[in-house]
Amino acid sequence: MSISPHLATLAVHAGNAVDAGSGAIRRPLVMANSYALPDDPSEISWSGTGTPLYTRNGGANQQWLEEKLAALEGGAAAVALASGMAAIHALFFAALRSGDHVVCSDNTYVGTYRLLTELLPEKYGITATLVDSSDADAVAAAIRPGTRLVHVETPANPTTRITDVAAVAAIAHDAGALLSVDATFATPVLQRPLGLGATWSCTRSPSTSTATATRWAAP
Ligand SMILES: Cc1ncc(COP(=O)(O)O)c(C=O)c1O
Repeated sequence: MSISPHLATLAVHAGNAVDAGSGAIRRPLVMANSYALPDDPSEISWSGTGTPLYTRNGGANQQWLEEKLAALEGGAAAVALASGMAAIHALFFAALRSGDHVVCSDNTYVGTYRLLTELLPEKYGITATLVDSSDADAVAAAIRPGTRLVHVETPANPTTRITDVAAVAAIAHDAGALLSVDATFATPVLQRPLGLGATWSCTRSPSTSTATATRWAAP
């Protein structure tokens, strides 16, 4: 029988290990911004985040943070970015193509709203229908043949309106669409959207308004 570690245990221990270089029992802060290449660099993905090369792509500290966040979310992988909106941009640009349609909560953080109603339609022909996502029937009614993504914010900022993630996940998946959840307000301590069927979960750092490490995780 396998026992899942308690969330508090994961918060302390996930992403931690004995540091291979120094033998330190906690992974240290790495101040370098560039990393040594392996003898044969031909296998490296220069734009990937898997191998530490340069901190913009991914450094040791980002990787360890991502391991911890993925474990807290119950996801396979996470990507840490410098802000919540950077995470939402990365997610939308990864998921969407020109001409796609998005169904989104009509109560979202203003940056998400502007991205979906100004930048994406004007520059890329990506359209969005905004609905009260606490009403699963309204989400279902907004789905179209070209709907690629359902994006909900729950609890919503600032109203704390709640969307039933499992219900909208079922609607999205039945339509062949993906579901992303901006779970910033509840954090993985109180809400883990991947376990409810979401494809991605975005959460702004639960710590302070200036520490804005954010990630999305794929199951
Ligand atoms: C729900 C939600 N999503 C996204 C963001 C954007 O985060 P950031 O300000 O780090 O870009 C915020 C910011 O307050 C937020 O409240």
